[in-house]
Amino acid sequence: MSEALQLPIIDLSSTDRISNSNSIRQACMEHGFFYVVNHGVEEELIVKVFEQSRKLFSLPIEEKMKFALKKDRGYSPLYAGKLDTTSSSTKGDCKESFYFGPQADGLNLWPREDVPSWRSTIETYHEKVLSAGTTLMSLVALALKLEEDFFHKVDALTEPLLFLGLLHYPGDSDSDSCSEETYGASAHSDFGTITLLMTDGVPGLQAFSLDKSKQPQVWEDVPSIKGAFIVNIGDMMERWTNCLFRSTLHRVLSPKQERYSVVFFMNPGKDCIVECLESCCSESCPPRFPPIRSLDYFDERLRLTYGSKS
Ligand code: OGA
Ligand code: NI
Repeated sequence: MSEALQLPIIDLSSTDRISNSNSIRQACMEHGFFYVVNHGVEEELIVKVFEQSRKLFSLPIEEKMKFALKKDRGYSPLYAGKLDTTSSSTKGDCKESFYFGPQADGLNLWPREDVPSWRSTIETYHEKVLSAGTTLMSLVALALKLEEDFFHKVDALTEPLLFLGLLHYPGDSDSDSCSEETYGASAHSDFGTITLLMTDGVPGLQAFSLDKSKQPQVWEDVPSIKGAFIVNIGDMMERWTNCLFRSTLHRVLSPKQERYSVVFFMNPGKDCIVECLESCCSESCPPRFPPIRSLDYFDERLRLTYGSKS
């Protein structure tokens, strides 16, 4: 049995921003993961998004394939992607997903136009989770001893490359069920700045321990807390902070039971240059990564995972 990680819970309704940002700093250094409650995304809306997601994935495969991934939007079937790009296994991850990006460019694909509330539910969720993520990013800035609007100023939040994914892990119930040797999502770190994850409560998510005192290092369960976002640091934030904040490896085991999750990746705007923060490097601790343009980095990571290019 793996242990369950004990992670701090950040209450976004708290007016004590200093205490919140201190907790975030500690969580990002020790685990790269924390929970967020009172984030302003209503429970009712979350329930609706999961309902819509169930309806979408229950469509026949031919129907879903009409919306197959194009410019990083749309449907990706079971085994189509493999998040662990270092593994030699040829089999992809046992999950199907549907991705949405910024609404403004009109590139999103909308199945189920027959159901009137479908699109508005997803768009409302998109807006609300973006607002929670933006608030969080200002706390992350404070946690790094930066001005609150730092990420705004460096174009990390304006016209962001945002991605919302509906995910479905079919579990054993599906006729095309996941075999023992595949993962729901194989070991990976997320690409962007922070990720806000909501699950239906079915277990499966694990994070790789950063606690070097634990030998051997272990995979630890990250349980869901009802209504709370599970937030984790992505690789661009790790680059910005010169590895002070950790982009932790995580994975989803192939669940026995069917499992749904909704993932929201905060990514910097396409022209944002991600380079080591001054406060995170010194003569004895030089920058470990060269500066990089957000879109270039993003394209390369997507290409490695899905073989696509935006
Ligand atoms: C991801 C991810 C976890 C989950 O999509 O990057 O880690 O619980 N998802 O679905
Ligand atoms: Ni992930």
